Amino acid sequence: MPAKTMDQLVSLCKRRGFIFQNADIYGGLQGVYDYGPLGVELKNNLKAAWWRSMVYERDDVEGLDSAILTNQKVLHYSGHEDTFSDPMVDCKKCKSRFRADHIDGKCPNCGSTELTEPRPFNLMFKTAIGPVDDGSSYGYLRPETAQAIFTQFKNVVDSTSRKLPFGIAQIGKSFRNEITPRNFIFRVREFEQAELEYFVEPGEDEKWHETWKEERIKWWEEQGLKRENINIYTTPKEDLAHYAKACYDIEYQFPHGMEELEGIANRTDYDLGNHTKAQDEMNLTSNCHKNNESTQKLCIMDDKNKWVVPFVIEPSMGVDRGVLAVMTEAYTEEDLGEGNSRIVLKLKKHLAPIKVAVIPLKKNNEQIMAKCHEIKKNLLKLGIGRVALENTGNIGKAYRRHDEIGTPLCLTVDFETIEQQPESVTVRDRDTMEQHRVNIADLPNYLREYFL
Ligand code: GLY
Repeated sequence: MPAKTMDQLVSLCKRRGFIFQNADIYGGLQGVYDYGPLGVELKNNLKAAWWRSMVYERDDVEGLDSAILTNQKVLHYSGHEDTFSDPMVDCKKCKSRFRADHIDGKCPNCGSTELTEPRPFNLMFKTAIGPVDDGSSYGYLRPETAQAIFTQFKNVVDSTSRKLPFGIAQIGKSFRNEITPRNFIFRVREFEQAELEYFVEPGEDEKWHETWKEERIKWWEEQGLKRENINIYTTPKEDLAHYAKACYDIEYQFPHGMEELEGIANRTDYDLGNHTKAQDEMNLTSNCHKNNESTQKLCIMDDKNKWVVPFVIEPSMGVDRGVLAVMTEAYTEEDLGEGNSRIVLKLKKHLAPIKVAVIPLKKNNEQIMAKCHEIKKNLLKLGIGRVALENTGNIGKAYRRHDEIGTPLCLTVDFETIEQQPESVTVRDRDTMEQHRVNIADLPNYLREYFL
C-alpha cells in the first residue's frame, strides 16, 4: 500500500523541507507551492530521469526550451482562446464559484441551491505585454508547453534534418487559473509539465499511441511506482480535450484517490494544421481554425517524397504530480519492535535528493571534521549527485533524518577512521539499516557501482 494520507505527506514535506506553501508568511497564495531544499533536488532528479529516457536514450527525439510568455495568436489559432475552459457555476448567495462537474446541485460553501447556469470560464492567465496597459497588447502565460513545440516545428526540422517519426521534448512551467485548486500539489495554478510531441505518418498514429502508452507505464515503474497502483483510463469521447481524437490517462493511486498522472493523447494533425500557412493545400483531416496569418508551412517530406502534415502523439506528464506520486509510493512507516518505529522514504536511488550523507561521529573533533570535508569533496567528483555533510544533531538523529528524506547511504566517520590504517568508514543502508565498514580508498568504486 502506498501512503497513506495526504496530511502525512504534507507534514513530511514541510518538516523536512520538500515543499512549502507559496507566500506562507502572508497566508499563502492558493494553488501555488514552492519547492524547498530537498524538493528542488527530488524534482530535478525526476526531470533528469525523464529527459534521459526521452532524449538521451533515444535516437529520434530533440529537446526544446521555449518561452513561457506566449503570443496571443498562438493561443488563438490553437483553439485555447475559444475552448480552453471549464463550465462553472456561481452561488448566487455567497458568490463562490465552482466547477459544474464538482458539485451536486448545492453550493459546497453555504449549502444554497440558488446557482447560476453553467458558464464557460477560460483557464488561461492573460497578461499585458509592453509599457501600455490599455488592453491592446496582451499575451498569455502558456497553459501547456506543447504549443511552442508546434510553432517551432519547422525550425527544428530544418536545423536537424529530421524525418518521421521523430519527437520534440520539453520540460517547463505552465499556468492554469484552476477555480478550485486542491489536494496539495496535485491541482495547482502554476505547475511543471514534461511533454513529448511525437510526430508520425498519418495512419500510423494509432499504433504509436499504443506504443507510447506501454513505454510510459514502463518508465513510471522504473521511477518506483508499483504496477498495481497504476490504472489506464481511456477517456470517453465526450470528455476529450478540444485537440484530441483519443487519450489514455495513466492514473495513480494518490492518497486522495485514483487520478491522472499523465495523459497520452492522439492530437492528430489538429495543432500543426491550425498553425500552418496554406491550409487548403495540406489535406488536413482535422477541423482547423482558418489561419491567414501564419508565415510557415508546417509539413515535412515523407519517405515517398510527399509533403505531409504529421499526426502527433503526446505523452504529457505533470511533474508535480510525479513528485507527489513517487513520494506517496516511497513513504513507509516501519515498526522496529519494542515500541520503536521509523518513517523511511524508500525512493529509488536515482531520485533521492541526497545520495550520500557524510556524518561525523563527533562534531567537535577537528580531525573527524577535517576527514568528513575531505571525503565529501572527493565523493562529489564521482558525479553521483548531491553528497551532503550532515553536522546537525547526534548520530541517531542524523540517521532518522536521512531515513525520512530518503538518503540511500550514510557514511559515518568515527575514531576508528582517524586512528586505524587503512582508513575506513561505516556505510549504513537506508532500507536494511545494516552497517559495514568500507575502506576510504575503495569508496569511489563502491559508490560508482551502487549509483551509476
Ligand atoms: N499538453 C497537454 C496538456 O497540457 O494537458
